[in-house]
Amino acid sequence: MTAEIIDGKAFAAGLRARVGQAAGLFQSVANRAAGLAVVLVGEDPASAVYVRSKGKATLEAGMASFEHRLPAGTPQEELVALVHRLNADPAVDGILVQLPLPPHIDENAIIAAIDPDKDVDGFHPINAGRLATGLPGFVPCTPLGCLMLLKDRLGDLSGLDAVVIGRSNIVGKPMAQLLIRESCTVTVAHSRTRDLPALVRRADIVVAAVGRPEMVKGDWIKPGATVIDVGINRVPAAEPGKTRLVGDVDFAGASQLAGAITPVPGGVGPMTIAVLLRNALVAAHRHAGVELTERL
Ligand code: GUN
Repeated sequence: MTAEIIDGKAFAAGLRARVGQAAGLFQSVANRAAGLAVVLVGEDPASAVYVRSKGKATLEAGMASFEHRLPAGTPQEELVALVHRLNADPAVDGILVQLPLPPHIDENAIIAAIDPDKDVDGFHPINAGRLATGLPGFVPCTPLGCLMLLKDRLGDLSGLDAVVIGRSNIVGKPMAQLLIRESCTVTVAHSRTRDLPALVRRADIVVAAVGRPEMVKGDWIKPGATVIDVGINRVPAAEPGKTRLVGDVDFAGASQLAGAITPVPGGVGPMTIAVLLRNALVAAHRHAGVELTERL
């Protein structure tokens, strides 16, 4: 079998177009643009690239973008004070503080300072609790994007065996919660898991989010399974001095057995920003008391 390639780039482009249309409608009803604030502390080059693309995508979707760049040495109290100002700003519907933060800042304290109803990242413990208990709230962008790709491919996920590899607060844990909500039988594997190949061999759905290049071997994949690869790892290319991106899954091997698989790049990656824009627009509708007519 040769797997179908799940085109996350195309799916994300479609979602962004729908968000853009809905953002236009929102503006005409609410008499203001939906607004997303993004905060970057320090000069981490990868984070700076992400923040720039988030700002650009926000403007392209017809929403207002508020970018705050603070020096790496910013004291924690100053960052908390900025978050409080954004919480109180009626033009700001969503707040994203780019992670990781410099080591002198307590990430949990910053996440906890964000108004849960502006927490478009879905990282606040209130939103994690809402997800775990089935209440409406914000769901982290990357796992929600993975779920959209899975449902687009498989429809009803009920009763399927899913393995989530990785237990981070950003991807693994919320991914497991989302799959439980879809009535999958979910196993969460991590660095202490004893027999990962055996778990993966039973799974109809594999979500790999560990950040280790090609650690999931192709011959572990159950024939016909759907494989979602969240990893983005830079490794040396065959040509000296060059690098290339690979996922957490051995793509060449897995695509011989899987029914469908996301590529790296062009799979899950583009979904994260598209879902962020979606979450920000949902936040804007809630704040303004405007009904969102399109299902995003
Ligand atoms: N750093 C890496 N991914 C993310 C994300 O989805 N949100 C935030 N705030 N920081 C990140």
